[in-house]
Amino acid sequence: MPIERLGSLSWRCALVALGLLLAGAAGAAQPALLVGTAWYPEQWPQSRWPKDLALMQAAHLDVVRVGEFAWSTMEPREGEYDFAWLDRAIAAAARHHIYVVIGTPTAAPPAWLTSKYPDTLRVAEDGTRAEHGNRQQFSFSSPRYRELARQLVTRLAVRYGHNPDVIGWQIDNELGPPSFDAETRRQFHAWLQRKYGNIASLNRHWTTAYWSQTYDSFDEVPMHSQDENPGLLLDFRHFVTDTWTSYVANQVTALRAYADPRQFITTNTTYWGNQFDQHILSRELDMAAWDEYVPDGHFVWLDQAVQQDLVRGYKNRDFWVMETQPAFVNWWPVNRALPPYAMRELAWQAVGHGANAVLYWQWRSALNGQEQYHGTLLGADGTPVPAYGVVREIAAQMARAAAAIAGTSPRSAVAMLQSYDSRWAIDFQRQQADFRVVKEFDAFYAPLERYAQSVDVISPDTPLTGYRLVVAPALNVLTAAEARHLADYVRAGGHLVLGPRSGMKDAYDALWPQRQPGPLTSLLGGRVEQYYALDSPVPLAGVLGSGQASIWAEALSVRDPAAKVLMRYGQSGQSSDGNGWLDGKPAVISRAVGKGSITYIGAWLDPALMQNVMDDSLRAAHVTPLVAGVSANVEVCERVGAGKRVWILINHGDSTHTIRLPSPAAPLLAGDDTARTASVTLAPHSIHVLEAPLQ
Ligand code: GLA
Repeated sequence: MPIERLGSLSWRCALVALGLLLAGAAGAAQPALLVGTAWYPEQWPQSRWPKDLALMQAAHLDVVRVGEFAWSTMEPREGEYDFAWLDRAIAAAARHHIYVVIGTPTAAPPAWLTSKYPDTLRVAEDGTRAEHGNRQQFSFSSPRYRELARQLVTRLAVRYGHNPDVIGWQIDNELGPPSFDAETRRQFHAWLQRKYGNIASLNRHWTTAYWSQTYDSFDEVPMHSQDENPGLLLDFRHFVTDTWTSYVANQVTALRAYADPRQFITTNTTYWGNQFDQHILSRELDMAAWDEYVPDGHFVWLDQAVQQDLVRGYKNRDFWVMETQPAFVNWWPVNRALPPYAMRELAWQAVGHGANAVLYWQWRSALNGQEQYHGTLLGADGTPVPAYGVVREIAAQMARAAAAIAGTSPRSAVAMLQSYDSRWAIDFQRQQADFRVVKEFDAFYAPLERYAQSVDVISPDTPLTGYRLVVAPALNVLTAAEARHLADYVRAGGHLVLGPRSGMKDAYDALWPQRQPGPLTSLLGGRVEQYYALDSPVPLAGVLGSGQASIWAEALSVRDPAAKVLMRYGQSGQSSDGNGWLDGKPAVISRAVGKGSITYIGAWLDPALMQNVMDDSLRAAHVTPLVAGVSANVEVCERVGAGKRVWILINHGDSTHTIRLPSPAAPLLAGDDTARTASVTLAPHSIHVLEAPLQ
């Protein structure tokens, strides 16, 4: 259909939409908490759909995501579109009171496209061009691919942008691998030119006199993602971020031109994904969404909780779990099934941390295709497998709690700073192979979350007003602007804790010409004298207890009388256990700044000591738990808003615990949501959801 006809079409669609809206096609108002699944109607005869949808309805599912790999069905030949099947699928879902999220199908281009336009194919770093037969085989920078995507997405927007049963859009699917083709290289050079203006500036920031890397023009700059000048590597990541962001913006613009504002636009991201800066890309979106998997089937609640908080931090607001596993996946060495109780805990934990929807991937496996072994809700025979029953139970309970959840979100007094630049900079040069940034982040997160029961994970440039404590585990790249931002926070009475490797690099991944923490050295009143990679633990002790440092240790010094040494290495006469350089040197120092403080922790601490040190910081910052006296295996989540508090209490352990709530609350799942109680007994692996008025 020619593009010029789209305008008049949108009018027609608006009228149709108005009619549907009045008719309330999917029934009642959209619940605040949804459970759903990824449904691929294009893989099945239409005669089967009513059966599928009836089974979904019987499992209390509210939403299906459709279409995200269906380009060859939507546009079987170039310019020939077929949406009739999708019209019918959406209408059929609505008859079962099931809402629809449409995935734009650009993660899987059709064979006609890649055959006719091989220039759209992604090229790997080793120069190999992708072939058809898998997915994500397109180049993210290809103007032609973007144009083809824009045409298709525009048609989807025109057709479904006012459809009352379509509640949102997912752009593409798990954006990820960049391309190293000639067009991408050309764009990288243009990007560098825009950033630096002239080549001398690039040479200066990258210190290219090193190893004769000096460039005479931007065209000479190579394009690599590893084993290169750290300045180039960081800029490449920034370029990749900007390229994926404009890739997404291309589709957002097409959708927004025709879609109702009530339809959200998101994309689904992978766990701890770090191909690009999610904070930047998320600015294009209305909402963050992620795909939560526990591929080895062993659910460790803190490991998952941190990721929920990470995703909430992409936009500092509630999000969706767009995919999660019905028991097991198919892409791990041993695809162990999550036990049924872990499926329940996982789903409620997500809600506790701010998810407003949980969707299971997938409904029923295609009879052929690469993912035949993945967990599903229906078997190949089209009848429920055991996971269906667990999901039905989860969905029934979520339906009970949905009204209470409406208008609520998690709130935190503690923030952790997550910086992609820092993560990348350390990964480029680990110095100690075991220095895994995510693992170190988790080591800080666990004691904070256990005590405070709510932690925001945010980017370093997020406004910090309102946080009592801000912790940056390894803020390796600390730009001058970020340093000012953090110093302002401390001077205004905030408590800042920096972890090892912080404040070493500037915005260009160049070393600061002063010791760590670079531009925060004078505020700290101390500095890092030297850093050391450790291959065996080193003892340390002080007013916060004693324990061991492993993997990484920095010898600090105090240069201002107001700065205090809280821990030292090898303090207890065990200097022979140290590395010879650290003996007796400060490991943790802190300086009060007005009502605020700045603390630097120079070592990767053992878990018990980390708990002590974080407890001390939490106390100093006057952070209190949401619910006091809770055992380590009980997770407390709180969502607040609309004049109420909702507590989600999850016992992840094998013994029973009784906890007292700060105020009486009405249990929502037990079948009686009127009787208030202030005492809750949690059987092993049980979940309680309670609502109390906000006092
Ligand atoms: C990802 C993808 C899905 C599916 C699942 C399997 O999350 O988005 O299409 O492949 O993995 O776990």
